[in-house]
Amino acid sequence: MQKKGFVFRPATLADSQSIASLHTLSWRDAYRGILPDAYLDGPIAGERAKHWQARLASAGADRRHVLVAEREGNLAAFVCVLLDEEQQWGACLDNLHVFPRLKGYGLGRHLFFRAAEWVRSQEPGWPMHLWVFEANEGARGFYEALGGEVVEHCLKQTAAGIEIASIRYVWRDLVSLLEDGVPWQGRAEK
Ligand SMILES: CC(C)(COP(=O)(O)OP(=O)(O)OC[C@H]1O[C@@H](n2cnc3c(N)ncnc32)[C@H](O)[C@@H]1OP(=O)(O)O)[C@@H](O)C(=O)NCCC(=O)NCCS
Repeated sequence: MQKKGFVFRPATLADSQSIASLHTLSWRDAYRGILPDAYLDGPIAGERAKHWQARLASAGADRRHVLVAEREGNLAAFVCVLLDEEQQWGACLDNLHVFPRLKGYGLGRHLFFRAAEWVRSQEPGWPMHLWVFEANEGARGFYEALGGEVVEHCLKQTAAGIEIASIRYVWRDLVSLLEDGVPWQGRAEK
């Protein structure tokens, strides 16, 4: 699929390195001041590479959906949604990251809706949930603009080895969310 110069496709194992690089860049950009500098400036690129290699190589590919957005062959954004993580809340949107310079063009919204659309196709009637750091005001504004409902606050253990105040958002009715189809509100001219 191609819109505004972006190509959207499911990730393969061959994407693990580029997803890890974008994940690292995005954490360093968005989580500065939230996670410790020593962690963000440490060897997280290698840690993320192992994480994505393991995730994309693991069994159960039908229970996860990792979708990438590319422009001119370069990774611009990715989303990952899992069906078997805290299933009492439905599907779990585990990662959504947009290349820092491409934020605000509508890519995040598009990938979010594509993830919800996949959940609806696999598990009709399920909700979707996610965790976000309480201090990640940009992402919270984004999720609230998309109608997310706050259902839980807690301290969550992070990959950095410390607990961070986090919030769970849920979208209970994906059918209503998606009833107008998958919107593209990209602002590629911005
Ligand atoms: C959060 C993120 C995925 C949003 O993606 P994006 O492509 O920048 O967002 P979009 O352009 O699709 O924005 C969609 C809507 O969300 C809202 N929004 C986006 N960023 C926002 C912000 N920082 N504050 C408030 N609202 C925001 C806006 O209403 C926007 O639509 P509008 O401008 O047309 O009204 C992206 O900024 C990102 O990668 N952040 C860093 C990583 C991160 O924190 N990921 C989430 C981890 S839980």
